[in-house]
Formats: sequence, C-alpha cells, structure tokens
Amino acid sequence: MSETYTEGDLKKFMEANHVIPRVVYECILTTKAGDEANAAPMGVVFEDDAMLLRPFKNTKSYRLLTRAPYGVINFTDDVEIFYITTFDTKIGFNELFTSSISVPVPSLTNAYARLEFVVEGLVSEDDERAVFRCKVLKALWKRREAKPYTRAEYAIIESLIHATRIKFFLERGMTQEAIQLALFIKHYDALISRIAPNTIYSSIMNKLKVLISSWSPFNLPPNFFEFQED
Ligand SMILES: Cc1cc2nc3c(=O)[nH]c(=O)nc-3n(C[C@H](O)[C@H](O)[C@H](O)COP(=O)(O)O)c2cc1C
Repeated sequence: MSETYTEGDLKKFMEANHVIPRVVYECILTTKAGDEANAAPMGVVFEDDAMLLRPFKNTKSYRLLTRAPYGVINFTDDVEIFYITTFDTKIGFNELFTSSISVPVPSLTNAYARLEFVVEGLVSEDDERAVFRCKVLKALWKRREAKPYTRAEYAIIESLIHATRIKFFLERGMTQEAIQLALFIKHYDALISRIAPNTIYSSIMNKLKVLISSWSPFNLPPNFFEFQED
C-alpha cells in the first residue's frame, strides 16, 4: 500500500474511490469534545456535496458531535479495527490514532482514506436516531492494492453490528429480538468456521461470542455458540 495520501475535495474522493451516492458505507467515526475522544463504527451515506451520518442517540458519538461539531470518517478494511472500536477499547486504543489536519479530532493512523468534516446541521431526528449533514473540509486517500474478497470479512462486520443491537435490546428487556440476532451471529460463526478456521477471523468471532454470552440477563442455552480452536 502506498504510504502517502492524495489530498482533495469530496468530489475528487468520490470519483477516485468509486463511491456511489445513497449507498451506506461502513467507516470508523472519530469524534472529540473537550478531553473526551471516541472511535466507533458508523454507517455513512454520500450525497453529491455532503455526507449523512445517522448515530443512535444513546451513543457517545452522538453526544460528542452535539458538543463539538467536528469529526473524521476513517475508512479501513481491517475488521480487527472494527472489533476493537466496537467492543475492545482497552487494546492499543491510543496507538491507533494520530492528529488530523483541519479538525481538532484524532484520525485512524492506518486508514486508507480519511474525510475530515464539520457538522452543517441536523436533517431530522426521532426518539432513537439523529441524521446529521456533514461538510467535508479535507479528503485524504491512498491508492490501494487489490485485495481478494472473502466472505469472512462480511460475516465479521454483520456479526459486530448485530452484537451492538443485541446489547441495545437486552438493556431494554427485548430478549426475543436479541435471540433473533444471536441466531444470525451463530450462522455467520458457522460460515467462518468453514471458510476461515484458525485465522484472525475465527479469533475475533470467539472473542465476540464470549462477550455476548457474558451479557446478563442473556440466558443463552448451554453450547448455543460452539467455540473454535484459535
Ligand atoms: C459496521 C457497523 C456499523 C454501525 N453503524 C452505526 C450507525 O450508523 N449508527 C449508530 O448509531 N451505530 C452504528 N453502529 C453501532 C455503533 O458502532 C455502536 O453502538 C457503538 O458501540 C457506538 O459507540 P459509541 O457509543 O462509542 O459512539 C455500527 C456498528 C457496526 C459494527
């Protein structure tokens, strides 16, 4: 991978990276207000001249963006970083980030693209979610080597996103909804054990299953998840 970033505006970034408007892309959103910084996976949708973020109101990302309207959309295809920023804040969290150029918010050091932005306004909101329109102040991207596609990465990202909702449902006593999502994760886990045994993917899955099984009051039947060798 080339180590130098190309700099440009949102339009050039979208052209160079084949970004399609109205598609939800998954990034790591970094935010900071006062001394409090945060990184979390988040969906982002592009318009021709802006981006839309839809944080749930119970997230730290939402709270920080309402306090200080700057952030960075960091793109990575490293699923371990998605895992760490979702659930594993203890492991090497600070080493993963560096200063940004135009916003007072850290960026992900190894991102292949970074979009530094300011929140322009609140487009809409309901009890659960807000939609923010964001203006890109600076876009940086690296030319990437082609990487072969594996379903394991898709399975990890789907499992992580379901796991965040399981946590949300359990906190609200919605056990049936949580079990439904746990069944999806069981399916992705079986997929990973077939197509990527004894890899970084199965190792992330194992950590995720331990975490989910520990969530009280989630009384999963014994052996609901089977564990693989690391
Ligand atoms: C791939 C992926 C995409 C996500 N997209 C969103 C999103 O668009 N909005 C949101 O509020 N949470 C989203 N989440 C869940 C948040 O990352 C999760 O709730 C996280 O714990 C919020 O972190 P925070 O409280 O530190 O901001 C996503 C999670 C994953 C794994």
